[in-house]
Amino acid sequence: MSTAIHKKVEVLLQQMTLKEKIGQMVQYNASWDLTGPAPSETSGALPYKELEEGVVGSLLNAISVKDIRKAQQITLEHHRLKIPLIFGYDVIHGYKTMFPIPLGESASWDLEAIEASARVAATEAAAAGLNWTFAPMVDVGRDARWGRVMEGAGEDPYLGSLVAAARIRGFQGDDLSATDTIAACAKHFAAYGYAEGGREYNSTDISDNVLHNVVLPPFKACVDAGVATVMNGFNDLNGTPVTASSYLQRDLLKGAWGFEGFVVSDWASIAELVMHGRATDKAEAAVLAANAGSDMDMEGYCYSEHLAEKVQVGEVDMAKIDDAVRRILTVKYKLGLFDDPYKYCNEKREQALLLSDEHLAIARDVARKSIVLLKNEGDILPLKKSGQKIAVIGPLAACKDVPLGSWRAQAITDSAVSLWEGIQTLVGENAKHAKGCDLGIGNRAFILELTINEDDVSKIPEAVELAKNSDVVVLAVGEDCWQSGEARSRVDIGFAGVQQQLMEAVVAANPNVVLVLMNGRPMPLAWADAYIPAIVETWHLGSEAGNAIADVLFGDYNPSGKLPMSFPRHQGQIPLYYSRKQTGRGESVAPSVFWSHYIDEQNDALYPFGHGLSYTTFEYGDIQLNTSEMSMEGSLKASITIKNTGERAGKEVVQLYIRDLIASETRPIKELKGFQLIKLDAGASETVHFELTAKDLAFYNSMTKTWGAEAGKFELFIGSSSREVQMVGFELR
Ligand code: GLC
Repeated sequence: MSTAIHKKVEVLLQQMTLKEKIGQMVQYNASWDLTGPAPSETSGALPYKELEEGVVGSLLNAISVKDIRKAQQITLEHHRLKIPLIFGYDVIHGYKTMFPIPLGESASWDLEAIEASARVAATEAAAAGLNWTFAPMVDVGRDARWGRVMEGAGEDPYLGSLVAAARIRGFQGDDLSATDTIAACAKHFAAYGYAEGGREYNSTDISDNVLHNVVLPPFKACVDAGVATVMNGFNDLNGTPVTASSYLQRDLLKGAWGFEGFVVSDWASIAELVMHGRATDKAEAAVLAANAGSDMDMEGYCYSEHLAEKVQVGEVDMAKIDDAVRRILTVKYKLGLFDDPYKYCNEKREQALLLSDEHLAIARDVARKSIVLLKNEGDILPLKKSGQKIAVIGPLAACKDVPLGSWRAQAITDSAVSLWEGIQTLVGENAKHAKGCDLGIGNRAFILELTINEDDVSKIPEAVELAKNSDVVVLAVGEDCWQSGEARSRVDIGFAGVQQQLMEAVVAANPNVVLVLMNGRPMPLAWADAYIPAIVETWHLGSEAGNAIADVLFGDYNPSGKLPMSFPRHQGQIPLYYSRKQTGRGESVAPSVFWSHYIDEQNDALYPFGHGLSYTTFEYGDIQLNTSEMSMEGSLKASITIKNTGERAGKEVVQLYIRDLIASETRPIKELKGFQLIKLDAGASETVHFELTAKDLAFYNSMTKTWGAEAGKFELFIGSSSREVQMVGFELR
């Protein structure tokens, strides 16, 4: 924190009454966009009285410069000390211009593209008057039943850490007071992604080993990247609701990690300490949360109603209140809100920047890079722009809304370029469309529960007829965007409704099918993999979805994405991830039955973490090490030459994994510790270099509660996915 800001904060703090201090620790919903259960206290309108009394620190879900200016004006006209509000909103993958859902963007493994996407999102959000986004969500997700895997960077903490830092750079830039940067928020601290059974908001119970080696590294990466705020979560972790966890928020985050920003609760998560059975009432909830380091109460009405009295009776030290308020005021100063509370309120900028052509072009570029080619048997792809009769079939083929994804901020309904539009733009009359079926869900309303499994097969015959009379079929199926995201866990992560019947009927009519998936989570694709020659994973790709997918299908962009989450053969395999433990009965025990396996399905993923094909081919040379013995203080250099052995330029994500063979706690069979995204022209080669130090080999030992690398034998893998790798051994001495 700069000394100038520090001084200003201290001067201001000295002047504030207890009521005004607690006011800064209160965030209300501005009612323009409900993102949580509306408590009885909220009237669904601006909290005018509280704004006038100067007892509000922040509003969330306030939309548009006009309304934000209005709320700021009310505050400043009445606030004794003129402390401006900070306005937060869930700008998760774009504000108005929609980018791929974060899980999709992470499939690009392109940190520059990811940063550029967050940059545009910040520019548009700031142009709309906002100063703070509740992103990046950095919860490691290994259970595809959980709807919020769409919002993160997948199953791996190393990739997740780099993606999170790129997003923070994009959102915050290098000057938070600039009018095109916003404060970021690492969430949900911590372990929300380990909800038992993948069931939303469920308890999380994990070992210290998993907490420190898998869950926490992306958060630490966010703090190291200078994230301005952190949001806690709804879950209880090993018996303690994280909102009331002093270990997480004070000992670790603000203590050991030196985090200087502030912690905002998740929506009413402080009040929910009562529901958890951790607090008797909201007054006790306020005490627990404030003492544990939850600095701001989002829509919980605990701090506003009870914290002052609890300070007065000594259950919460004033020092803790001052610490929270100091952190909040500091972020407001860094944003420049004290210098000019209206600096983000500029209608001209709002008009000029939202959905600009430049932003849409960036969205199309990031979208193309996020697409993963899962299968391409017989090189059915890329398709020809002429001379082929193309059938475009499926409930998502002409859909202009689903590609906008969940957590869509201020996207305009039905504004995405559909796949059908994207294909028509490229091939015109050569393509014909038939829907084939609906998505298999009833009511698409965002708030209401989804009614699943419509059974209308009446449109399938028309689609089958079109398939019969075409050379190739592009078949677009998957999930509605409201089948993923918050409060959208699923026990059946397959194709809802009659999509499977449609796929089988179309394939029977014409086997030349390219399956285009639009979904917010891994799906079980064993049938598709067995019967469909080409499969393209396009997630919910954002405003430019149709154009980006068409660019890939017709070869204007050579697909380069790699999976950030494992795709199962059967959903019964979940939770499924590459970085698993060996167990005491690994596959080597086979063919005896006494080994860790299922009797009715293979263990491994259908498509593993890091998998993704190209329209060209890459040949990997042998791994070269500069030494086979590495010292604790030294480093190990690994290199490998990759050759593009195909006919066209392409990109490849060269991945490096390690395995610690023997350690004082069991270690995973692989851990991603490096990757490089390279571009090679046809016939070209490049030698890729990696350097590892003991830090890269370190792990958290839950017995000694320390990080460190242990001497011994390691394996080092380099390849094009977590499965397609070569291996060499080395020793750490
Ligand atoms: C939601 C989400 C959180 C979001 C917040 C505000 O319930 O859990 O990620 O930022 O409330 O919308």
